[in-house]
Amino acid sequence: RALSTSAAHFNSIKTVTVIGSGLMGSGIAQVAAASGHKVIVVDKTQDIINKAESSIKKSLERIVKKKFPDDTKVGKQKYLTDVLENLSLSTDALAAVKSSDLVIEAIVENLDVKKELFSALDKAAPEKTLFASNTSSIPIKEIATATQRKDRFGGLHFFNPVPLMKLLEVIRIPETTDATYKSLEAFGKALGKTTVQCKDTPGFIVNRLLVPYMAEAIRLVERGDASPRDVDTAMKLGAGYPMGPFELLDYVGLDTTKFIIDGWSKKEPDNPLFQPSQMLNKLVKENKLGMKSGEGFYKYD
Ligand code: CAA
Ligand code: NAD
Repeated sequence: RALSTSAAHFNSIKTVTVIGSGLMGSGIAQVAAASGHKVIVVDKTQDIINKAESSIKKSLERIVKKKFPDDTKVGKQKYLTDVLENLSLSTDALAAVKSSDLVIEAIVENLDVKKELFSALDKAAPEKTLFASNTSSIPIKEIATATQRKDRFGGLHFFNPVPLMKLLEVIRIPETTDATYKSLEAFGKALGKTTVQCKDTPGFIVNRLLVPYMAEAIRLVERGDASPRDVDTAMKLGAGYPMGPFELLDYVGLDTTKFIIDGWSKKEPDNPLFQPSQMLNKLVKENKLGMKSGEGFYKYD
């Protein structure tokens, strides 16, 4: 399939392995497959992988409705079949990277777990394979130290929901070569994303602004100044945000948000923007992780 962007020249990436099939991994795998790449998506168990497959199918059905408003069933079916044909599922990360041009990691937001994974992948993947992390908050350079391929390592930070959000932050570390950076950027454009560059600083652009905003919303409620519902209504109708901060927290995942805030507060304990929140910690302890677990600040059916 032709990649019709001026950056296509640099897009040497045809086969992609996505490790982690949660909210982000399933979305990344979906958009990569939909733009003509051969994709293997990997997770720890068959059960998790099966859930990811069904959420990808649901998302594709929603896209198909929009893409083919007047089309017959046949056209829709062909699109779905083509995308799904590009996608395969696996629980064996080391085998899955063997023929991969690019590996995108989207597992739990924990430096040690990410390093352990990348160290194993580094030994299993061919020389040519580029590595990227979708981390929300961990410096790319810290993750890349687990490998011998810092020159072929970068950050590809997608946004949730990946099929709809148009932005991709592309991050390089000092060792990342120009060729690697250009390939990552071209891959993002081939996926239809608008790319921005940012230094390898905590939270890059979007999360450095968004996470303190969401944490401040929790502090406002912790002080008893307003309810989550009223804060959300206020930010949607008073500031034009598509979701209020509590809806967004539930959408992103409270565990992921807690990992981000905990990591930053450990690094900068005196930064008032990065203070851990008791309310958030309590919800996560009760396994109320947001939409993905059925309850967070709100309840979901
Ligand atoms: N896949 C496919 N289609 C989807 C979809 C998905 N996952 N989610 C929604 N849609 C479709 C719907 O079917 C609907 O289609 P129609 O227009 O044909 O009806 C359309 O998108 C709009 O959806 P909704 O009507 O349900 O809701 P909406 O208009 O509010 O849009 C939204 C949904 C795009 C998610 C919007 O609410 C939004 O932009 N929210 C903010 C999201 C955000 O800020 N994301 C960033 C989070 S931070 C992050 O990701 C970084 C990090 O590291 C933590
Ligand atoms: P998630 O909890 O929905 O999914 C994580 C998946 O990784 C799970 O299915 C888990 O089983 C799997 N996993 C964990 N360890 C693994 C391993 N060693 N090997 C294979 N699979 C493993 O989390 P998510 O929201 O998709 O976040 C994933 C990454 O993306 C995190 O680094 C997060 O910070 C980042 N991110 C999240 C968002 C968001 O809005 N949720 C946005 C951008 C980036």
